[in-house]
Parts: sequence; structure tokens; C-alpha cells
Amino acid sequence: MEIKRILSGITTSGRLHLGNYLGAIRHWLKLQDKAQNFLFLADLHAITTSQKPDELHANILDTVIVYLACGLDPKKSTIFAQSSVYPHAELAWLFSCVARMGWLNRMTQFKEKSGKNKEQAFLGLYSYPVLQAADILLYQPTHVPVGEDQKQHIELARDIAQSFNSSYGNLFTMPEPLILGEATRVMSLRDGTKKMSKSDISDYARINLDDDSDTIKLKIQKAKSDSDAISAENLENRPELNNLVIIYSALADLTKDNVINKFSGKGFSELKKELAELMISKIDPISQEIQRLRNDKAFVIKILQEGKERALETAEPTLKKAKELMGFINF
Ligand code: TYM
Repeated sequence: MEIKRILSGITTSGRLHLGNYLGAIRHWLKLQDKAQNFLFLADLHAITTSQKPDELHANILDTVIVYLACGLDPKKSTIFAQSSVYPHAELAWLFSCVARMGWLNRMTQFKEKSGKNKEQAFLGLYSYPVLQAADILLYQPTHVPVGEDQKQHIELARDIAQSFNSSYGNLFTMPEPLILGEATRVMSLRDGTKKMSKSDISDYARINLDDDSDTIKLKIQKAKSDSDAISAENLENRPELNNLVIIYSALADLTKDNVINKFSGKGFSELKKELAELMISKIDPISQEIQRLRNDKAFVIKILQEGKERALETAEPTLKKAKELMGFINF
């Protein structure tokens, strides 16, 4: 299907990192001139785990700042906060009376995030993918560009769309996940079998988009490695090497094979040295722009205000139509 309209978002639960950039933001950038972009901050999703109000507030502003610093242009993309567009929460309730318990019981993210203490997890953490389905379907996007970890949630959104359409009438477009490039799952720098994430307790596990050059250099230096030479063989059993190769290839716009050939026979230290330089050349301008924009809160709020109005123009009619089809009285 032709990419006509995309929708995607990032949860405002911490500092944005290289995984968010390579798995999502850089694809949004490429689509900015080709498709209609709806890009939001999933601030309602952030509270599915405990958040301190002042930290949530700062993270919301900072996420917009990162979007802008990466090059997203509010004239081309509608950038908005989920919590400011009321149809998200309302459609999520309607969808929680369309989705089945059995579908949600299969969601792996809930199992990972709730860990051993399921009884104490918030109800919202369990129903999280239902809100995500509302986020998506309100805007009738053709595609949802995300990293690998979100695929299951998009499939659930498709199941909900299909079920709604067959029960109440054809309303929702079936969105396709768009999982692009080599770096669809960037791993932790400390453990190549774990995903790079905002919530990892070790800051050395990830590259934050606001890290300065010295920090990036140090984190790459300290990244877990082994003592064997670089080679294409046995890569699947060397997750840390595999991860650095993938990151390099994504940043340099090369294939994984190109990168392996370039470093074949060399040691980890050479790869790390070049990777640090490459990463600094890509991340440092973003990091500097983040620092600059942090001083201009009024500008950030203005972008959110304009984005909210534009998002409502699309989301509100979809919600109204869904309610009408279900039998509610709109007035
Ligand atoms: P979140 O905030 O965990 O991640 C935001 C985006 O970054 C991608 N990503 C990664 N990609 C590659 N490697 C990684 N280590 C990595 N970590 C994160 C994610 O795949 C995602 O594309 N539930 C979503 C937010 C959301 C959403 C939506 C997304 C809410 N509603 C509707 C799309 C459509 C989330 O928590 O993403």
C-alpha cells in the first residue's frame, strides 16, 4: 500500500535514546516530505508506570524538544501531546469494549514490564495496547513506523479495527506496521541480549540523544565486547558485536555486510573508535540543539498548541463517527 499518512509516537517516560532515533525518528524524518505525518507524545502511556508529576512535565517538554532537534518540522508534521486531544482516552474506552481479554493476555510487553509483581501492576499497564489502538485508528493512517518491539501492539490495533468494522460498520483503515532498516531493535551496550531502553537502570546501557561527545565516547569505550577478531562467522553468538555492527550500519547508511567487510579481521577497539566518531558526528548536533531549545519553553508550548488543534480536526470526526455507529447519540 502507498504510504499516504503515518502516525507514531514515543512514551514520555524518560530521556530519548539511540534506539528511539534509529528505530523510529529517523524514519519519520524521511517520510516528512512524502506523507502526512501525525507524531505525538504518548504522555498518557507514560503514567502506566509510576511517574513523578514534575518529571512527567519535564519529559513531555523534552520529548517535543528532541523531535524538533532531530529535524522534525512542525509545518510538515503535526506534533501534539496525546493528553491534549481528548478523543484518545474516549476511544480507548470504547475499544476496551471491543478488545477481548484473551487478546491482551498475549501481549508480551505487559508480561515483561509487570515482571513478577502482576498483582501490583496498574490496570492501565494491562490495557495499554487498547489506548495505543485508539491513538492509531483515530487518524486513519496507512502506516505506523515503529521499531520491532511495537509490532504486536499494531497487530492488536488491526484486530480491534477489524472487529469494530465487522460489528458496527466499516470505519477504520487497516494500518500497516512499517519496520524499516537494519536497526529495528537496538540492544543495550552492557548486554547485547537486552533491548536498549529508557528504563534501564544503567545509563551506560544506552546513548541518550542529549549526551555530549565525551559521554558518547566513554559509553562506546565501555560497551561490552569480547577479545576475538571481527568476522561474519558466529555473529549470532556475539550479540554485543552484532549490535555495534547494526548501529554502525544504520548511522552510516550501509548494509550490515558492508560493515562486517570493512572491519573484518580487526579488533573491537577499531570498530569502537570509528563508531564513536561516527556517532558523535550524528548525535552531537542533535544534542546541542536540544540544549538550545530547552531555554525556549514558550516556543515548545506554542507548537503543542498548534498541533493539538490540527490533531483534533482529524481525531474528533473519527470519534464521533465511531460513537454514532455504536448507537450513541451525538449532539
Ligand atoms: P517507546 O517510547 O518505547 O518507543 C518509541 C519508538 O522507538 C522504538 N524503539 C526502538 N527501536 C529500536 N531499538 C530500540 N531499542 C528501541 N526502543 C524503542 C519503538 O519501537 C517505538 O517506535 N507504545 C509506544 C508508544 C506509542 C505508539 C502509539 C507508537 C503509543 N501509542 C501509537 C506508535 C503508534 C512506546 O512505548 O514506544
